[in-house]
Amino acid sequence: MIKAWSYTEEYKELRNKILKNIDKSLKSGNIFFGNELDKFEKLFIKKNKFKYGVAVGSGTDALYLSLLALGIGVGDEVITVSNSAIPTVSAIKSSGASVKFVDVDENYLIDPKKIEKKISNKTKAIIPVHLYGQSCDMDKICLIAKKYNLKIIEDCAQAQGARYKNKFVGSFGDTGCFSFYPTKILGAYGDGGFISTSSWSLYKKLKRLRFYGIEQNDKKNRFNKKYYANNHGTNSRISELQAAILNIKLPKVNKWIDKRRYIAKTYMRHLKNTNLVLPNEKKNCKHVFHLFVVYHPKRNLIIKKLKKNKILVNINYPFPIHKMKAYKNSTNSNNKNLINTEKFSKGIFSLPLYPKLKINDVTKISNVLKTILLKT
Ligand SMILES: Cc1ncc(COP(=O)(O)O)c(C=O)c1O
Repeated sequence: MIKAWSYTEEYKELRNKILKNIDKSLKSGNIFFGNELDKFEKLFIKKNKFKYGVAVGSGTDALYLSLLALGIGVGDEVITVSNSAIPTVSAIKSSGASVKFVDVDENYLIDPKKIEKKISNKTKAIIPVHLYGQSCDMDKICLIAKKYNLKIIEDCAQAQGARYKNKFVGSFGDTGCFSFYPTKILGAYGDGGFISTSSWSLYKKLKRLRFYGIEQNDKKNRFNKKYYANNHGTNSRISELQAAILNIKLPKVNKWIDKRRYIAKTYMRHLKNTNLVLPNEKKNCKHVFHLFVVYHPKRNLIIKKLKKNKILVNINYPFPIHKMKAYKNSTNSNNKNLINTEKFSKGIFSLPLYPKLKINDVTKISNVLKTILLKT
C-alpha cells in the first residue's frame, strides 16, 4: 500500500539524534520554557527572517491568539476563505467574531479581486490562507488592508518556507501563524504552533497570552507577580520535548522542501498530457508543496480505482466550511458566490507526497493514474 503520508522513514533516519536530544531535555529539569524552546524560537525566527516570534500549542491557537492580541472579537467581522482546514474558521468563531467568506482563484487561494465587496464597517481583519504550500497574492492583499485599515493574519500552517517575491510567508501580515502538526512541512511528533510578528508590543502581548496573561521573564516582579495576569490569556504552551524534536528536524527542512519540489516536478512531468488539472507555481512565488492537489470532475471514481491499485490519497478538503453544520450560521453573508470553492471541493484530491516518498513510487502512482484516466 502506498500511503498519502508517513513519517516512519524520516524517524528511522533521525531516531538516534532525536532520542538523544529528548533524553538531554528530560535530564535538564525543564518540562516547559527551557533551553530547547529558547533555541527553537531563535532558530525558527532566523530561518524565516522574522523579527520576533513565539511558539504556541498549535496552529489553531496561533490564529486564535493572534485575533485575541489584535483585539478582534464579538461584533467584528473577519474575512477568509471557505476551502481551508476547519481551524482557520474555528479560531475566528472562538474569538467571538463573525466570518465573511471570499471565493478562491484558480490556484485555490483567496481572490483579491473579490475581497473589497465583502468589507463592511464591521470588518477588522483578513486571514489569507497560503493553502497547499503556495503564497496568496500579498501585494494586493496588503494594499486592500491598508486602504480599509484592516489587520492581516497570515495562515501559514501549510506553507512554512514558501516565498512571495522572495520574502517568506509570515512576514507580510501583523502576524503569521504556523502549525507543527506532524504532517506539516516542519512537523513535531505531537502538536505545536508558532506566531511571527514584526511588532515588539504584539510579541510581548502574545508571550503573555500563551501563558494565562502572565508576564514571563518579568525579572523585576519575579516573585510578587508570578501568579498575576496582565491580560486575559490562555494556556498554549509547547513542551520542551516537542521543541527538542523540532530542533533536530528544523535544520533538515530546506532539504525536505527541495525533495517535495522534486516530487511535485516529477508528478507534473508524468501527468502533463492528461486531463487532470495540475497545480501551478505562480510567477514570483516559491511553492513548498505541502500537498500536491489535482482536480478531476470524476474524482470519486478515480480514487476508488487508485485504492484498488493500493494507492491511498486524501481530499483536502471535501466540504467547504460555509456548508458545515457547525459554521453555516457563523457567517455574515449569503455565501452564494463561492463558485470556485464549491466546484473545487467536488473534484480535488491530493496525491501522496512527503519527503521520504520514493521517486519509483511517484512514477508508479503516475503510471497507474494515467491508465485510469484513459479509461475514465
Ligand atoms: C490551513 C490550516 N490552518 C490552521 C491549521 C491548524 O493547525 P493545528 O492542527 O496545528 O492546530 C491547519 C492544520 O491542520 C491548517 O492546515
